[in-house]
Amino acid sequence: MDNLTVIVLAAGGGTRMKSKTMKVLHPIGGRSMIGHVLRAVQAVEPERIVAVVGHQREQVGPHIHELVPDAVLAVQETQDGTGHAVRMAMEALGEDGPTRGTVIVAAGDTPLLRGESLQAFAHEHEAAQRAVSILSGIVADPFGYGRIIRNDEGDVEAIVEEKDASPEQREIAEINSGILAFDAEFLLDALGRITNDNHKGEYYLTDTVQIAREAGLTVGAHTIDDVMQTEGANDRAQLAELGRELNRRIVTQWMKDGVTVMDPATTWIEADVQLAQDVTILPGTQLLGATVVAEDAVIGPDTTLKNCEIGAGARVVRTHGELAVVGDRATVGPFAYLRPGTQLGVGGKIGTFVETKNSRIGDGAKVPHLSYVGDAEIGDGTNIGAGTIFANYDGVAKHRTVVGRQARTGSNNTFVAPVTIGDGAGTAGGTVVRRDVPPGALAVSSGAQRNLEGWVASRRPGTAQAQAAASAEEASVTGEQQVDPGVGPDGRSESQS
Ligand code: UD1
Ligand code: CA
Repeated sequence: MDNLTVIVLAAGGGTRMKSKTMKVLHPIGGRSMIGHVLRAVQAVEPERIVAVVGHQREQVGPHIHELVPDAVLAVQETQDGTGHAVRMAMEALGEDGPTRGTVIVAAGDTPLLRGESLQAFAHEHEAAQRAVSILSGIVADPFGYGRIIRNDEGDVEAIVEEKDASPEQREIAEINSGILAFDAEFLLDALGRITNDNHKGEYYLTDTVQIAREAGLTVGAHTIDDVMQTEGANDRAQLAELGRELNRRIVTQWMKDGVTVMDPATTWIEADVQLAQDVTILPGTQLLGATVVAEDAVIGPDTTLKNCEIGAGARVVRTHGELAVVGDRATVGPFAYLRPGTQLGVGGKIGTFVETKNSRIGDGAKVPHLSYVGDAEIGDGTNIGAGTIFANYDGVAKHRTVVGRQARTGSNNTFVAPVTIGDGAGTAGGTVVRRDVPPGALAVSSGAQRNLEGWVASRRPGTAQAQAAASAEEASVTGEQQVDPGVGPDGRSESQS
């Protein structure tokens, strides 16, 4: 499309959000509201994008520039109406502004808008060679919208705003979505003719329709079937409603693309998530941010992953993860917490009640139970015993622990960083590792065990504990002759139990 300019209006206050965050910056489906609009606008590849900012422009301006670095920001100091806002946009372009071609005006608060819809609308506008085209919609409750006034031939004559409409005009169900297309030359001329002689005392952009008609120029309306694409969120209830609808659309699209979603109603997938074919998502799962899931992976139930990368065939159950990478065929959970910088190798395991942070866990390495792994490097094929704490913090600074490959560490260990455990080394249960363990060595830090015989009978006489000890002693004395070796006291052989 030649010489296309898009103006996005985002100067309004959005007071009904009752928020310190400007309306168009509220997140929905993993982007800001205006982020979705700008994405749709960029899909049309316009020559220029102008955003009109006013309220809280110190928040909105930088956000827009982050998403579209070459967008032109036009400042509207006072919100004197949509016509005034568009005039500010054209003035901000100055010499570089369009004198011919098409100008599309859209609002910054319509997060469901799609690029294809803008594209189709722009094409139709240009093909019909109109001065003004309106993207209109038929709605059940037209309250608050500008109504499309047509004559007996069905030609569009004007847009009349709610407050200026007669009771009969208020019955009209065809409304102005707020998205309009203009011939640039006509728009420049018409903006100078709009007055604020109306109920709100504002410069209405919609007055351009009547101006075009009076000049004998062509005006038309293109009705969008999918009106939700042009719906704005004015308060948080509408934001939640649009958020659910946006999610429904995203989830449906992924199912069409070959992803199994067991329960779409409890599955949330944000707009920038990428899923491969044959991924399975179980109920209660949220895939957020730039999360990427490779084929055959199974995620959920009850799992939240933000900005994570999950490998092919991996399994992630009841897990909360952020900025973590899970290798192909690896397993995570149930009840795991993957914090930023976690990297789990191919076929590795992060098991139940395990928290990991800033750690690389090698291919086939396992941390199966009840552990904290922070600032660590765990080599391929190593097994970390149940209940291991990587003590990475000395109260002042964080330190790293390195465990080599094919190591076997015992249960209930503490690794006091900085410390290194060599390849193929082992640690005994209950070891506190403070010094490096050479490859192949077994580290033992707890003292030799002593059994104080008869301690319970002398210190806890008459207790249930003492009684149990006494009857065990009795049974061992009488039982020694009766029971064959290899058969338990209940008579079953060990291999059956
Ligand atoms: C506008 C349209 C109405 C349409 C409706 C669709 C006009 C006069 N009316 O009404 O026909 O049915 O949108 O939602 O155009 N804005 C500015 N500066 C301003 C005023 C508004 O940037 O001075 C921005 C707002 O931030 C918003 C958009 O323009 O993004 C629409 O403004 P809003 O006040 O919501 O217009 P409506 O009265 O709803
Ligand atoms: Ca509005």
